[in-house]
Amino acid sequence: MTEPRIIVGIDVGTTKVCTLVGEVHEDGQLRIMGVGTAPSRGLRKGVVVNVHEATEAIQASVHKAERISGYEITRAYVGVGGGHISAINSRGVVGISRGERGITETDIERALDAARAVAIPENREIIHTIPRSYIVDGQEGIKDPIGMQGIRLEVEAHIVTGASTSVSNLVKCVRDAGIEIDDLILQPLASGEAVLKEAEREMGVILADIGGGTTDIGIFIEGSIWHSVVLGTGGEHLTRDIAIGLRTPFNTAEELKIKYGHALPASLTTDELIEVTSFGNGARQQISRIHLAEVIEARAEEILSLILREIKRSGYDGLLAAGLVLCGGSAELPGLSDLARRMLQLPVRIGTPHDLQGLTDVLESPAYATAVGLLLWGMHQKVEPEPKRKKPPSIFWQRVRDWFRAFLPG
Ligand SMILES: Nc1ncnc2c1ncn2[C@@H]1O[C@H](COP(=O)(O)OP(=O)(O)OP(=O)(O)O)[C@@H](O)[C@H]1O
Ligand SMILES: [Mg+2]
Repeated sequence: MTEPRIIVGIDVGTTKVCTLVGEVHEDGQLRIMGVGTAPSRGLRKGVVVNVHEATEAIQASVHKAERISGYEITRAYVGVGGGHISAINSRGVVGISRGERGITETDIERALDAARAVAIPENREIIHTIPRSYIVDGQEGIKDPIGMQGIRLEVEAHIVTGASTSVSNLVKCVRDAGIEIDDLILQPLASGEAVLKEAEREMGVILADIGGGTTDIGIFIEGSIWHSVVLGTGGEHLTRDIAIGLRTPFNTAEELKIKYGHALPASLTTDELIEVTSFGNGARQQISRIHLAEVIEARAEEILSLILREIKRSGYDGLLAAGLVLCGGSAELPGLSDLARRMLQLPVRIGTPHDLQGLTDVLESPAYATAVGLLLWGMHQKVEPEPKRKKPPSIFWQRVRDWFRAFLPG
C-alpha cells in the first residue's frame, strides 16, 4: 500500500481561520485528519489589514490542526477573497498545426495564454484562468478538445484577478506563519467544490457564501464558473445593526443573533421577551424577539437584494434553473432560505459539506464550505508522481537472507 497523499487547506476568513488536513487514499477517498479553527484577527471584509495579527491567527489555527492530525504542516492551498477581486470572461484563439495527434495540452496552454493577454492593469494579478468551454473550427460547447482534429482552437476562459497588494499581504501572512502556498483559490470556487452537486452546476446555479465580512458569489452554468464576485457585506453587519438598534455591545448582539435570531419576523407566531444588558450603565432591558428579527430582516433583505443585483448584472438570470445555494456561517440563520426564496423567486437550499470521512462532525456546517472546498480543489489537482525508486537491499541484509535460505528446506 502506498502512503496517502496529504493535502492542507487554509481558509483565512474575516471571523475565523480554519486549517484542515486531509489524507487522500488510493481509492480516491478524502479523510479529514485534522481541524484547527482559530478566531480571525487582522482582517476586514476578507482582506488583511494587519499582517502581524493575521499571521498570528493563521499560526494558531495551523498549530491546532498539527496537534490534532499529528502531521507537520509545511504547505497548503489557501483561499482568497475580498472586494478587490474581479473577474472577466475572455476568449483566446490559436491556430493548430496539422498532425496525427490532433489538439494537444500545449495547444490548450497557448489558447489560455491568448485569453490571458487581455489588458490587466499593472497593479492587479491573475489568480485563476479557468477554461469554461472550447470551440474547434467553429463547433461550440466542447469540454475536452484533446486529440480532436482541427485548425483553429478557441477557448472561453473565466479570468479572476485580484489587487496585487491585497494578494501579496495574504501571501506574506501565510509565509510568515511558516507555510508555503500550493495555490491560491478564490473562495466561492472552493465553496462551490464542497457544496454544489454536479447536476446543479450543469443546470445553472448561484452559490452565495455569506460569511462574517463578505458574501462570495459564484454563478455556475454548464459545469463551470461563468461569473464570480465578492461583496463586502456579511454576518458582521447583521450583528452591528443589532448592536445599534438595541443599544447593546457587539458581543451581546452576536450572542443574541446566534441564540434568538430569525430572518422572518412574520413567521414567529408568539413573541418572546429576551433580557439583555444595554450599553452605558449596564442596566438590564427586555427586548422582543420579533423586534430583534425585524432588525435582522432589514439587513438580510439588503444582502439578498445585492445577490439579486449581481445575478441580474451577470446577464445569466434566465439560465439558473437550479436556483440559489446558500453557505457560509450566516446561512445558519433561521428563516434566511425562506426569505431568499420569497425575494428571488428561485429554488433555495442550504449547502453543507457532505460525504466526508474522518473528523467530520464539526465540518458538516455551511461555515466550513470554503475550507473543505480547498481540500477538494487540492485533491483534484494533477500532481507529478514521485519517481518511484526502490531502495536495493543492503549487502548486509542480502547476506542475512542468503544465510537463512541455506537453512530452509529446499
Ligand atoms: N446560527 C447562526 N445564526 C446567524 N448567524 C450565524 C450563525 N452561526 C454563525 N453565524 C454568523 O456567521 C458568520 C461567520 O461565518 P463564516 O465562518 O462563514 O465567516 P468567515 O469565513 O470567517 O468570513 P468571510 O468569509 O466573510 O471572510 C458570523 O457573522 C456569525 O455571526
Ligand atoms: Mg468565508
